[in-house]
Amino acid sequence: MQHIDESLSSRQSGLHILVEGSAISRAVKKLALRINKDYAGKSLLVIGILKGSFIFMADLIRQLKIPVEVDFVQCSSYRSGAQSCGRIKVSKRLRQSIEGRKVLLVEDIIDSGLTAYCILNYLRRKKPASLKLCALADKPSRRKKSVVIDYLGFEVPDKFIVGYGLDWNEKYRNLPDFYILEEAK
Ligand code: IMP
Ligand code: MG
Repeated sequence: MQHIDESLSSRQSGLHILVEGSAISRAVKKLALRINKDYAGKSLLVIGILKGSFIFMADLIRQLKIPVEVDFVQCSSYRSGAQSCGRIKVSKRLRQSIEGRKVLLVEDIIDSGLTAYCILNYLRRKKPASLKLCALADKPSRRKKSVVIDYLGFEVPDKFIVGYGLDWNEKYRNLPDFYILEEAK
């Protein structure tokens, strides 16, 4: 039986429900419907950004009816050196060629946009046939780099969100819903 500790959603813990898992699930199905339609008769390489996208990506690809392959990239932030992507670098790179492939990049949440911007540039240099971005959530009020989100689940307020893969200090990824974490920031 599925059971979440009551204290997790209580005021005391600082977690307040934002989107229930059932609503996330409906949004994921809607996104998959669009992707299935847009890529009908084609195959797709779905690339997730670690770690936050892993639950979203797992649910999304299980709704896809087209042939799918998966891979992952990861970013880290750093402070030294002049870089084209602000303070972000790709720390886990692809070990395969994506030249000529149809690629869908999957991110949990777009905040400043730096991570997606940096990874989209990294992937574009590898000459995919097409490259699109799918994000479960968007915090447009915090954007620093403009990115086009081709497939978006939710727009969310400027709050720190955890659950469904999203973490705070590596915690809360396992929660099945989106919560606002009040004491974060
Ligand atoms: P960016 O600012 O768009 O580059 O986002 C950087 C990373 O921070 C993303 O990969 C997200 O996983 C993470 N992130 C942004 N906002 C939140 C949040 O509200 N909760 C948890 N992680 C977040
Ligand atoms: Mg992340």
